[in-house]
Amino acid sequence: MRKRLMLIAGALAGMMALVSMTGCDNQPPKPKANFASTDVTGIDYAKGFELTDHTGQKRTLADYRGKAVVVFFGFTHCPDVCPTTLAELAAVKKELGADGDKLQVLFITVDPERDTQQALADFVPAFDPGFVGLYGTPEQTAKLQQDYKLFVQKVKNKTGDSYNVDHTAGSYVYDPQGRIRLFMRSGQGPQAVLNDLKLILAGA
Ligand code: NI
Repeated sequence: MRKRLMLIAGALAGMMALVSMTGCDNQPPKPKANFASTDVTGIDYAKGFELTDHTGQKRTLADYRGKAVVVFFGFTHCPDVCPTTLAELAAVKKELGADGDKLQVLFITVDPERDTQQALADFVPAFDPGFVGLYGTPEQTAKLQQDYKLFVQKVKNKTGDSYNVDHTAGSYVYDPQGRIRLFMRSGQGPQAVLNDLKLILAGA
């Protein structure tokens, strides 16, 4: 009799455990997408901006909700990384085909002294008519560098009459819900960028 009671108690405890296991959360965890870029989902910086676009419109990140957004920081006088990156992103957008409309590339200048609205209008849409150039006041630009933890340093050329800007050469990627998701290093190659953006657009 005692043995039987113990068996019943044991069975009940087992059932309770089962109920508590399945009762709270039976949603299987979503498998993590295999991004080539660094997954920065949930970081507490790079949350957005308030700037002016190359047509003179005030813009914030929320204006591009519904699209995957690639934010790249640079300057139009850049001899190498900036034009290369924009050309690469234009090629990736073409590769996306019809989904290219769901990709928004934003080029934010870290050199607003020289990158006026007109300079950005001449430079950015030349890579793709849908690309947008953005600039801010010197104060907004300084805040941006903090908000995005950017490295930016002016370097005078040999004759001292001009300068280059050494800068963070990666891009931040937001999903269509406006959440920060990826940091893409420059030089990952267009195939890696294409794959990652396809994953983001597919809801990864
Ligand atoms: Ni550059």
